[in-house]
Amino acid sequence: MMDPNASAPATEDAPLSAYEKAGAEDIDPRCIPQNLDGPPPVGDEIVTPEYPEEDHANWRFLFERQMGLLQGKASEAFREGVATLGMTPDRIPALRDLSRNMEAATGWKIARIPGLLHERDFFGLLSRRLFPSTDYIRGTAELDYTPAPDCFHDMFGHMPMLTEPAFADFYNLFGQAALNAEGQDRQSLERLHWFTVEFGLIQQPQGMRIFGAGILSSKNEVGHALSDAVDQRPFDVQAVINQDYDVWHLQPILYVLDSFEQLVDGFRGWAVERGLLAN
Ligand SMILES: [Fe+2]
Repeated sequence: MMDPNASAPATEDAPLSAYEKAGAEDIDPRCIPQNLDGPPPVGDEIVTPEYPEEDHANWRFLFERQMGLLQGKASEAFREGVATLGMTPDRIPALRDLSRNMEAATGWKIARIPGLLHERDFFGLLSRRLFPSTDYIRGTAELDYTPAPDCFHDMFGHMPMLTEPAFADFYNLFGQAALNAEGQDRQSLERLHWFTVEFGLIQQPQGMRIFGAGILSSKNEVGHALSDAVDQRPFDVQAVINQDYDVWHLQPILYVLDSFEQLVDGFRGWAVERGLLAN
């Protein structure tokens, strides 16, 4: 979810997506956040759609292309996560199967949602260790880029990282803190989400690697993220919350973690200091 829709509402009553805030004309209706009209189905409650063959073919194309591009570039946690979840190129995975495997790894489960959510619903699910995911895939004409959330981004981009214990704990704390945030803290959280969950890098013994879903699931961002065109800076909570970003262009600045423990510890410290989490 939340790509590139990780935006703070203008007010509690009239939330704006990043697209709306950017003043985009002809907003894709799929990019307008919706309210949940009831609790979404979770885990085994989720009914798997009867996908047409074309949808599975699009999944296969995207999965194989992205895995090829990510050779030597994706974090170890992502590569292991794909295996742990049992994702294969053959077909779009069933959310209930992914949910079962994710739960066994870190206690997170999957909630099926209809599309982009308002933040309150989104954070509420994260705070309960539920990852909101769509189950529809982009069309053949949108294989290189889609502005709207789809299940290739949600499943391939986000879910493998939720099998990594420290990252999984961080994302849960993020949801809890976000429910308590107001004013400036909301912008800080939006930026922290953007530069970690969506666009984060990590330094591994083998070299710099990608773990952010916005990069992992994007053909263009993968080629760009580890190149000299990007100013790669050491991760630091204060630096990130002071750094603006632009959803419309390849990212010129990215932040690099030493470890996922650094992320969970750094985030917890900041959130406790801001009064967003109890000690
Ligand atoms: Fe996302």
